[in-house]
Amino acid sequence: MHTERTTPKLGVIERYRDYLPVTESTPIVSLGEGTTPLVPCPRLSKRVGRTVFVKNEGVNPTGSFKDRGMTVAVSKAIEHGAKALICASTGNTSASAAAYAARAGISCAVILPAGKIATGKLLQAFVYGAEIVAIDGNFDDALRLVRELGEDSDLAMVNSINPDRIAGQKTAAFEIVDVLGDAPDFHLLPVGNAGNITSYWAGYREYHALGKATKLPAMLGFQAAGAAPIFYNRIVERPETVASAIRIGNPASWKQARAAIVESHGAIDVLSDEEILAAQTWLAQHEGIFVEPASAAPIAGLFKCCDSKEAAYSFQKIPEGSRIVCTVTGHGLKDPDVITAQMQELKSAPASVESVRHAFGL
Ligand code: F0G
Repeated sequence: MHTERTTPKLGVIERYRDYLPVTESTPIVSLGEGTTPLVPCPRLSKRVGRTVFVKNEGVNPTGSFKDRGMTVAVSKAIEHGAKALICASTGNTSASAAAYAARAGISCAVILPAGKIATGKLLQAFVYGAEIVAIDGNFDDALRLVRELGEDSDLAMVNSINPDRIAGQKTAAFEIVDVLGDAPDFHLLPVGNAGNITSYWAGYREYHALGKATKLPAMLGFQAAGAAPIFYNRIVERPETVASAIRIGNPASWKQARAAIVESHGAIDVLSDEEILAAQTWLAQHEGIFVEPASAAPIAGLFKCCDSKEAAYSFQKIPEGSRIVCTVTGHGLKDPDVITAQMQELKSAPASVESVRHAFGL
């Protein structure tokens, strides 16, 4: 008899139910998110002289880490009778919210900064059927509008100020500890609205308190130099960076991010757009992992710790034998324009072995 494999991959709610704000009566809205690979990276490790793993969140159902929090936020919204979602976004939150809304059979309203969303992310929000409004303003303006609109309506707000989002996102820290058998010594990640660093720190602390990890990692956050309010300790009115996902001047979880950095004895640092793009290409060409620009920030940050005297966190403080995890947050295909601009014209040749050989210089 023909048998089919019918067990779907468990989503983060099924996998970590005991740690999440759900009950038996919470309807689970899932796309099989989480359980992303913690990829050992030999070339990256060799380049920096320490053991480095990349937590590849780009392989989540909508191509970013947002799906972990979204499954919890949307499940809870449905439990509370929400008929629609609303969010502000630099792109990934809207792609994720739109997908989970479609999955739940409700609608999704999205407010975006006009002209600043990577092509792939905008396509996602569109194809999943979201109602999209592009405002003449940045992400911080969009979030302010969402907060106001969310207050007086049936719309469930699914930005990371929603605690269910943070709860779901902390499962990434659980997975890392479950795979490594303990917490890493250092955790590097990009920082935009600062929900993710808040979530990881909550996850690591929770596992530590339960005795599932013997230590806590130092949290190292990275912002783009043109959008670095936490680093400079002031609101940036006009944030600018090629890493559009983290083009944010007034992060909602600013205080929590600060707390994570201080309590973990970590640091926050800045990177130029050039450093970010160089790390994006390096990671693709040396480890086969293609990430969007914002996600290359922790890789660029690791190089900075290693190479630069100006780094906020000196590499001397990363002893040999340390285990380092870098979270790469979103898939490279979401933002093809950045790479298209770098691409050279293709070599062309008539369809014969000889001409192709010649074209390759063989
Ligand atoms: N990396 C990517 C790919 C992101 O999309 C974001 C945030 C971050 C990093 C930063 O994470 O905000 O938790 O500090 N994107 C949000 C959005 C703002 O709307 O998609 P954070």
